[in-house]
This record gives sequence, C-alpha cells and structure tokens, in this order.
Amino acid sequence: MSSDAPTHVIGIDIGGSSLKGGVIDVGAGALAGPPRSVVTPEPSTPELVATAARELFDLLDGASVGGPVGVAFPGVVRDGRTWTAANVDRSWVGAPAESIFEEALGRPVRLINDADAAGLAEAQVGAGAGFPGSVLVLTFGTGIGSALIHDRHLVPGLELGHLELDGAVAEHRASAYAKRREDLDWPEWSARVDRYLNHVGRLVSPDLVVVGGAISADAEQWLPLLHVDFPVVPARLGNDAGAVGAGLYALTATAPDGQPRTAALAG
Ligand code: BGC
Repeated sequence: MSSDAPTHVIGIDIGGSSLKGGVIDVGAGALAGPPRSVVTPEPSTPELVATAARELFDLLDGASVGGPVGVAFPGVVRDGRTWTAANVDRSWVGAPAESIFEEALGRPVRLINDADAAGLAEAQVGAGAGFPGSVLVLTFGTGIGSALIHDRHLVPGLELGHLELDGAVAEHRASAYAKRREDLDWPEWSARVDRYLNHVGRLVSPDLVVVGGAISADAEQWLPLLHVDFPVVPARLGNDAGAVGAGLYALTATAPDGQPRTAALAG
C-alpha cells in the first residue's frame, strides 16, 4: 500500500434485518469506533437499501473519511452486479449494485459478498490469521454465508448455505433466523448445525472452521454440542467481520491505477 493510502475507510454490511457499518482503522484491521446500524427497509429494494446505506454513511460521518467505501451484500456479486437475492428483494437480481451505491454515497464503492468479506477479515486479522491451511468461514444470520480461504486466497462466490440438507435448503433449517423462527433451543438447533457442518466438512475438508454472525457471541452455548472432526472456533471479529472485511477489501480491490485487483489478501 502506498504511503498516501487511506488510514481509515468505511465498511458497510447489508443484512436481511439491518445494515451495519463502521469506520475501519486499516492498519489495525478493526473498527475505529462503535459500529452503527439502521434497519433494513421493507421492501429491501436497491433504491431503498441504497438510501438506508446513505443514512448509515452519514451516521458514521462518512464525509470525514476518505477513500472508497466497501459494501458487503448478502448474495452473489460479480462485476459490480448482484446476481442472487435469497434474503433481500428479488429486484437485486442483475442490478448494477456497485453503481447504485456509488450514486447514493457519492464515493467509489467496492462491492463484495458479505460472507466473502467476513472471510477476508477473519483470515487477515481474525480467528484464521496466519493459519496455513483451508479456512472455511460460515456466517449464521438470516441465511448462511460461506467463504473458503486457502493460504490467504479467497475463492469467491461459494454458496454453501444453499446446499440441500434433510430435504430443505440448508440455510432454511440451520440459520440463526431458523432458530428464532422455529423457537429451537440450543440442542435442537445445534443438532441441525452439526449435520450441516458434517456435510460441508465432507465436501470441503477444512482445516479450520470459523463461525460468525451475531450468534457467534453465544458460541459457548452451541460449539460444545457439535461432533465434528475439525476445529470450529468463533469469529474473532464477531458480527463486525462483514463490515471490517468490506472496508479492507475496498482498499485491496483498488490498485493505484484504479483497476480492480483480484481478491488476494493484502500481505
Ligand atoms: C446468500 C449468500 C450470503 C448468505 C449470508 C445467502 O442466502 O445466498 O450469498 O452470503 O445468505 O447473508
């Protein structure tokens, strides 16, 4: 990174129930102040979510923070567009999301999948930092997000929340939202997560699994109930991983010539 690179950036994480954001201290790889959030609008159309993102940007006093803004989105992202929308309004499918946020925020924006953002943050400065093997980051929220990082390189676009599990879409049964919706207790929910993790483990052979999302704050309630043959640890950045990762990605994804880089982590 050149010496005139920004020291702070804004990271915004769009979720099914709220948009969370923070000012990210790039050197520390952490939030520089308390995270802020606004409720995800209903319907969660591009126009309304972009307006909510602007509200959040203003709450964070984004005008005083230079550089591009990183935005994490809960769906497949490619070439600045959003291609799936499992937990937000269907009108995001095919939407030029990066441009929509750029217009709303008046800043260059780098868009990344929310789980990929959390994965980058956990691999770079979180629970997977310095880990040499395959780190699978799974976020349990409205859906289940997944990111696979090997030797600091992210394989973008992994959608393991949409695997079939017991005749249903896995995230419909084992997300944190499913726990709330069905009023499952910890043993009931963790039994589903256990089946899911064993299934995913056979497909990906992770050396380490990092679990994120707000429910990772209760890790002591459910991690001991799992029976898997790989280590599972809570996200060190907790529910902030998506916003931190989006902010860090906004910088690593922008080369000095303004061209996007690959999703390789900054060294
Ligand atoms: C989406 C993923 C996203 C995950 C967590 C899933 O429904 O398909 O792209 O990462 O939810 O938000």
